[in-house]
Amino acid sequence: MSQFKRHTITAALPYTNGPVHIGHLAGVYVPSDIYARYLRSRKKDVLFVCGSDEHGVAITLRARKEGVTPQEIVDKYHALIRDSFHDFGISFDIYSRTSAPVHHETSAEIFRNLYEQGAFIEIESEQYYDEEAGQFLADRYIIGTCPNCGFDNAYGDQCEKCGTSLSPSELISPRSALSGAQPVKKTTRHWYLPMDEYENWLRQWILEGHKEWKANVYGQCKSWLDNGLQPRAMTRDLDWGVKVPVEGAEGKVLYVWFDAPIGYISATKEWADKNGKDWKPYWQDEETRLIHFIGKDNIVFHCIIFPSILKATGEYILPDNVPANEFLNLEGNKISTSKNWAVWLHEYLEEFPGKQDVLRYALAANMPESKDNDFTWKDFQSRNNNELVAILGNFINRSLVLTSKYFDGIIPERGDMFDMDTEVCDALGEAPQKISSALDQFRFREGLNALMDLARAGNKFLAETEPWKEIKNNPDRVKTIMNISLQIAANLCILGEPFLPYSMEKLRKMLNLPEYSWEDAGSIGLLPAGHQLGKSELMFEKIEDKAIEAQIAKLEATRTMNEQEQTANELTPLKGQIVFDDFMKLDMRVGTIREAEKMPKSKKLLKLRVDTGIDQRTILSGIAEHFEPADLIGRQVTVLANLAPRKMMGIESQGMVLMAEDPEGKLHFINPDKGDVTEGSTIS
Ligand code: MF3
Ligand code: ZN
Repeated sequence: MSQFKRHTITAALPYTNGPVHIGHLAGVYVPSDIYARYLRSRKKDVLFVCGSDEHGVAITLRARKEGVTPQEIVDKYHALIRDSFHDFGISFDIYSRTSAPVHHETSAEIFRNLYEQGAFIEIESEQYYDEEAGQFLADRYIIGTCPNCGFDNAYGDQCEKCGTSLSPSELISPRSALSGAQPVKKTTRHWYLPMDEYENWLRQWILEGHKEWKANVYGQCKSWLDNGLQPRAMTRDLDWGVKVPVEGAEGKVLYVWFDAPIGYISATKEWADKNGKDWKPYWQDEETRLIHFIGKDNIVFHCIIFPSILKATGEYILPDNVPANEFLNLEGNKISTSKNWAVWLHEYLEEFPGKQDVLRYALAANMPESKDNDFTWKDFQSRNNNELVAILGNFINRSLVLTSKYFDGIIPERGDMFDMDTEVCDALGEAPQKISSALDQFRFREGLNALMDLARAGNKFLAETEPWKEIKNNPDRVKTIMNISLQIAANLCILGEPFLPYSMEKLRKMLNLPEYSWEDAGSIGLLPAGHQLGKSELMFEKIEDKAIEAQIAKLEATRTMNEQEQTANELTPLKGQIVFDDFMKLDMRVGTIREAEKMPKSKKLLKLRVDTGIDQRTILSGIAEHFEPADLIGRQVTVLANLAPRKMMGIESQGMVLMAEDPEGKLHFINPDKGDVTEGSTIS
């Protein structure tokens, strides 16, 4: 790391189609923030950028569903997400957005340069087109029956029921998500990046040159490369996004995965503009170290596609590392925005105000670094009660309280350690190096553990030296004990800041600690004798069972609701879609029952004589088990009048009476609720 002059750290730009949840925080924003804070403490030149990813089909679909414009959707979630990050102390130097003019300009310019350089190939292909909406359909806009499991609301890119990835042409009876119409194939032209041409270079650069990348990242890259790369379209037929800046590209926008990562560069420009800096060194100087923090679903884009784009420009540096994390589950299930199976950051802070660090801690301790991991509320509680309160908080609290009691809050002179175990001093000496080495390798859990080990060593030291027993007879000994304890506390403050910024800011005030940096840590002389401590307060407090049970109950309620919804969906599967013309074929009218009698030898059938206003007809209806014939005379009913006549038990039935079934299976007539609706009124 030392040969680099500066660091550009990026955190994946979140989609603005929903709020952010603990999975986002654990996978991307907590690790990137720890890393950025750590480097800043090491006095590195660090730029930490992020912003909202505001293009893409998911956003247009959401807007359509809510009946608002895409801009309204992204405005709403951009603000919510930006505030959540701010509230959790994610220390971006800039949080930008891809709808910003600077981003449209930057991404269009990079595209145009590549275009002029001949970096793209133009390919014509057949794609689904919705004639009613007058629009080409992105994969997500095509819905149909899954060829794998028969689910009839599968998307053109994936069946959400069985998880199979699909292409639109595999769907059985495809229909448009926009209009419901059956899409037709139509020719369109797009600009492709010939990924196959980058394959050799990528193999060299990643598989030979970056063997140090995390195993999960390296493995995914290798498998993509081993499978062979195909040209990939960098444009789309859509109207929401960055307009393709070349002639003949009307109605087309840049592929969201082309423009979004360029958002990191646009954000840097915005930051530079606001702060009177030059953006270029952060992206174009070989002495800059570029690091992308992402989740595992983003690996191919950040390790293969975006680097190829950067490489093709010939002007930009490439990522030195892409420490992607796996996924965090919640109480055993995959986090899902649409199923509301999540802990939303803005809700967490309403329910646990001031406890940002508790969540940061629990997520860092459970970070899905090498495999998927599970967040449970019980674990959250025990991380707080048994670690933050019992280990870290307890040590700091005892150090401060005893010093204030015995020495009026003034750091006592440190003398000889006599026969005391110097283990704690060794632990202190090693801690900075242990934590650094873990963080340098993106092993955040290990780094956090090393930090807690120092607090553990401090507790052990106090327990063994028992200052409260010695204060009467050995005050000099107690001076030394408290001096050492406070030096440990001061070191914890420096080393813990990247992980627990809010608590360490509190501790800094309690210790009245001057501005130290990482390189000062490990020293036993951070607080000179005679130094006056500040006012003490509790850093962490116990979280009671009640609060945890409330969270679990909330998730249980969500689970029950989802299950009910699912059962409802299973009981009444929708029939295949029809168009308005299909509906218009039905001749339905109001009629009145004039006669009713049981059909001989039939348990189910009643023979009705129904007056439809234009005729009287015989209708056989399977309702004998539900009604007494005598009760039916004079009842208004709805008749499907143009149903082809059908003979049953020797009698022709000339239509159908419409019925609805209640949950107990009892039948009810469909009839007009009130007003002047009489025989012959048609239904439309
Ligand atoms: N919005 C994407 C996601 O949430 C991440 C985009 S990262 C970027 O998966 F590099 F493209 F910006
Ligand atoms: Zn399926």
